[in-house]
Amino acid sequence: MGFVFLGSYKPVFSHPTIFFRKRIGPSTSMAYNYAENKEEKPDPVKAEVKGNLPSWLHGTLLRNGPGMFTIGKTTYNHWFDGMALMQSFTFQDGEVIYRSRYLRGDTYKNNMAANRIVVSEMGTMAYPDPSKNLISKAITFLNNTVPDFTDNCGSNFIRYGKDYYATSETNYIRKIDPTTLETLDKVDYQKYVPVNLATSHPHYDKEGNTYNMGTSIAEKGKTKYIFFKVPATAAAETGKSSPALKRLEVISTVPCRSLLSPSYYHSFGMTENYLIFIEQPFKLDILKMATAYMRKVNWASCLKFSPEENTLIHLIDKKTGKEVGIKYYTDAMVVYHHVNAFEEDGHVIFDVIAYDDPSLYHVFYLDVLKQSSALDKCVPRCKRFALPVQTDMTLDVGEDMVKLKYTTASAVKDKDGKLHCQPEVLCENVELPRINYDFNGKKYRYVYLTCVGMSAVATKIVKFDNETKERIEWSEENCWPSEPVFIPRPNGEGEDDGLVLTSIINANPGESGFMLVLDAKSFTEVARAYVKTELYMDMHGYFIPFKDN
Ligand SMILES: [Fe+2]
Repeated sequence: MGFVFLGSYKPVFSHPTIFFRKRIGPSTSMAYNYAENKEEKPDPVKAEVKGNLPSWLHGTLLRNGPGMFTIGKTTYNHWFDGMALMQSFTFQDGEVIYRSRYLRGDTYKNNMAANRIVVSEMGTMAYPDPSKNLISKAITFLNNTVPDFTDNCGSNFIRYGKDYYATSETNYIRKIDPTTLETLDKVDYQKYVPVNLATSHPHYDKEGNTYNMGTSIAEKGKTKYIFFKVPATAAAETGKSSPALKRLEVISTVPCRSLLSPSYYHSFGMTENYLIFIEQPFKLDILKMATAYMRKVNWASCLKFSPEENTLIHLIDKKTGKEVGIKYYTDAMVVYHHVNAFEEDGHVIFDVIAYDDPSLYHVFYLDVLKQSSALDKCVPRCKRFALPVQTDMTLDVGEDMVKLKYTTASAVKDKDGKLHCQPEVLCENVELPRINYDFNGKKYRYVYLTCVGMSAVATKIVKFDNETKERIEWSEENCWPSEPVFIPRPNGEGEDDGLVLTSIINANPGESGFMLVLDAKSFTEVARAYVKTELYMDMHGYFIPFKDN
């Protein structure tokens, strides 16, 4: 499983927008071929740099996403299902070196050995080869009644301690070598914490600890959400063979609303003192999942959205592991990505990219991607919620408890004493949010996002100012940018003192893709590095500064 973005471009805001465009773009007149198998380039490819890369930019930007969709005579149904293809852009001494390599997990190896898709993914159920005998088919069916999930980790990267892992959202992650992109150990979360699913969007604190959460399904008769912390392990304390995951600590468990239908979630929020978890009415039906193989439907069909139900917002005290005493809820929505969260004047404020329904997933079926008509259904909106934490709950029913001047977000007390939260819409048609991560959990101003138009392909990136609501955009004709990653300048001054990196698929005839480097303050080009090979559509990236290696 893995989710990206989509929406239709219907600007409704009158706030100022500054455009930086070369030629006349953006344009989606040319189509990206999502279904095509991409070729890996494991040997280093030196890029041709135009402009001057700052001397302080030393590190590797890892990117992850699906790259192979047809194996033998079989094809995945959904873009997210494709075999994980990792890319890296290494910046050193003004040069950029590019590599790409398929993740060689068990799923990849088994598929290659059979020359067909033999491991099921979220959108594609794999069935026995019709030429196999009956006993072999029966064993395959039995194995799939209690499915062993895929280790095709094509969504993101996570750092636990000193180790880097490719991840999707199953209980398996794959350790990788971030320099060569080689695939290393297969790690099962269940060895350390009983989760069947876990996010590929953890948080990190300034000490280097990693925080993540997962769902434990029907374990000892209970289904719950588990938050855990993996301490940054000092090199002196453990040898190379001892992963930081061995020191995993469970910091909180939140019971699920129902035993057999846990909420699907893709990320969560974190401030200095709190964890924010959105239990949305977009749920996995576990019984349906258990019988999906027999019924010849994919697992994605076992996800159900219930718009008549509320969305619960859980606010958990990190120190005690307990939820705060106030109950918060909002209307039904579907959230994949949290942007940031912070505390101020007795409130927790958090920003997310929210949809009215889960139709986003449907858009990324490879058949649907070939059409453009289905794309104006789902509009991603960046929404701000404010949760009063220190508040006088003796106030009257119907009263808004939010006392912040700068947001229209509200939290109105209902007759049961719960707070009904209504968000402020900050901006629309944006996804894949990134911030200056030094401001994660703190009051912040800037967010960098992709803008999505009348196509699944992002055509622009934007810097959005939460205070002034000003947008600055970058686009170029027939150029499709990836998630924009902010890199802070060492000892920089101000939140936007740094660079924004985005890899660009260039559909202009005769031109190659490039890594675009923007000055984050002005959102203007500093340099671009043309890679003389094809670049690919992907999901998420992780920057490793060289000092971390
Ligand atoms: Fe994501």
